Amino acid sequence: MADKKKASADITGVTKIADGIYSMWIKEKEMASHAKAGQFVSLYCRDGSRLLPRPISICGIDRENGILRLVYRVVGTGTKEFSLLNPGDKIEVMGPLGNGFTPEGSEILVIGGGIGIPPMLELARELSKDGTRKVQIVLGYRDILFLKEEFEPYGAVYISTEDGSAGTKGNVIDAIKENGLCADMIYACGPTPMLRGIRDYAVEHGITAQISMEERMACGIGACLACVCQSADQDPHTHVNNKRICKDGPVFYATEVTL
Ligand code: FAD
Ligand code: FES
Repeated sequence: MADKKKASADITGVTKIADGIYSMWIKEKEMASHAKAGQFVSLYCRDGSRLLPRPISICGIDRENGILRLVYRVVGTGTKEFSLLNPGDKIEVMGPLGNGFTPEGSEILVIGGGIGIPPMLELARELSKDGTRKVQIVLGYRDILFLKEEFEPYGAVYISTEDGSAGTKGNVIDAIKENGLCADMIYACGPTPMLRGIRDYAVEHGITAQISMEERMACGIGACLACVCQSADQDPHTHVNNKRICKDGPVFYATEVTL
């Protein structure tokens, strides 16, 4: 199936963009041709002792040149290995995986928190492309900023930092309130407590929200059930209230899943 393609991609660039955060560009024409914002790829390690692929969101899509951009934080052995790769190296990759975001709404909040910020860059680009929507971008950082300037062409950017070193002191909801931002549609990716806060805010204000969940995964293609979350609806085949984040998601309507 086209959406489960595994391939050997050429790495065209690896750059450190902030402390512990790297941007990698991989060339794989077919994947780039049908990837969409909110989908992810699974990257395989060279070290055979690390069998499971690492899911990383698609941060940028250059269809013309067949290139996908991935931005990741080094947290363990796999992401460390990826940070040491060089242009000209190859990497085994499967994708694009998952469902991706569905464009809707006219006054939009694009919200990213921590390492949930990268997938929102391609989304912000796509939503702002035809100029018919008002795109407002809210980025939540612990302290060190990354990718902020890259969002600026796509809408007004508001930021929050936990330590108050830039933007609103606090979280993304604090930044939304402080800046009096309104919306009829929210898109968000980030840690679960942030997504919980956004779901509650969206329900309280009657705003539709699509959220992308970045839970632990194993197979990444719907086969092992390592990534299930509780859902409001029953699965028609298994008759349980579960959804597989890797296959049914990672993007869900906020009221569809239990956070
Ligand atoms: P280790 O802790 O050594 O990993 C051990 C195992 O646990 C590996 O199989 C690994 O895949 C798994 N694992 C550990 N943490 C996570 C996690 N948070 N999510 C899923 N699996 C995990 N990180 C980014 O920096 N940038 C992204 O764009 C990004 N997008 C993601 C998209 C999705 C849909 C998901 C599920 C996760 C995403 N993550 C992203 C998190 C990223 O997958 C983990 O940080 C990474 O797998 C850690 O691998 P490691 O070998 O360095 O760490
Ligand atoms: Fe295996 Fe989702 S990670 S089913």
